[in-house]
Amino acid sequence: MMQWMFGVSLAMPAIWLVGQIGLDLVYPGSYLGPDAGETVVHYLGQTALIILLLAYSVSPLRRLTGITMIARQRRQVGLFAFTYVCLHALSYLAFYLEFVWSDLLDDFSDRLYIAAGLGSLVCLTLMAATSTRGWQRRMRRYWRVLHRLVYPAVGLALLHLWWLTRDGYGEVVLYSLWFLVLSIERLWHLPRFKRGWPA
Ligand code: HEM
Repeated sequence: MMQWMFGVSLAMPAIWLVGQIGLDLVYPGSYLGPDAGETVVHYLGQTALIILLLAYSVSPLRRLTGITMIARQRRQVGLFAFTYVCLHALSYLAFYLEFVWSDLLDDFSDRLYIAAGLGSLVCLTLMAATSTRGWQRRMRRYWRVLHRLVYPAVGLALLHLWWLTRDGYGEVVLYSLWFLVLSIERLWHLPRFKRGWPA
């Protein structure tokens, strides 16, 4: 039941967007503004980042509240974040590049924020592909090592946002503080830290 409720809540932003696109098709410009493509790219980017930060918050939240069932939702939250990132990247290909693949290389070298976004997407893809129990069993302790890719994944996503923001840094500062506080909490709970650093 809990799994289902989490799933529906995480799907809500996508359902809302589909509704807005439908309404905008009937009343052009009234729901998604004058540049509908840009609005969709930005909306999916924001949603992806918030859900990625939520996935990153699961373990600290479990430690803080003691509610263990939150941890069982981690995979689902992570997979939703990955799906929104894929939709965001796909909407960029559709609306910004109109699937002209040769422009992708130019964008790569001219706009470094695209490279940072892609770096984050690669990390998330590796984590999503190995997120099943089968892979966890097969990879044993290396699985934990691989899933530390969450740190560069969130870090690169934030770098992506810092790089592309031109004015109004309020949001990016807020997201970065969220990441910083959680990272300190996670570092604090590393076994090595609790035991004390070797001399
Ligand atoms: C291949 C990967 C990616 C590509 C090609 C890409 C592309 C873009 C583009 C073109 C923009 C709009 C820039 C502008 O209009 O000035 C954007 C904005 C954004 N992207 Fe990405 N992105 C990628 C990965 C990511 C990832 C991994 C995240 C976070 C998890 C993310 C989050 C955002 C956010 C939050 C924005 C700003 C939205 C706003 O200003 O409201 N992107 N991205």
